[in-house]
Amino acid sequence: MKHPVKVYLEKGKTYQFCTCSKSSDGVLCDGSHKNTEFKPLEFIATRNSEALLCLCKKSTCTPYCDGTHAKHEKFDLDFLLD
Ligand code: FES
Repeated sequence: MKHPVKVYLEKGKTYQFCTCSKSSDGVLCDGSHKNTEFKPLEFIATRNSEALLCLCKKSTCTPYCDGTHAKHEKFDLDFLLD
């Protein structure tokens, strides 16, 4: 499961959120989307703070995590049957 990544954002700074999942950290664009249909999502941080950026790419409030990844998490509970 792809959990969110905590990053420190600087107020007023422009960031490029990775939408292709190919960047080295999975959350900020590093140009790896080249030759794909994807383009990064530009956003400006509104305050100096840590933020959880979406890595599962299913959040409804990208680039920020909204907890959607947890809804798709499959738990392996077989160990309870042993
Ligand atoms: S590397 Fe993923 S959008 Fe640029």
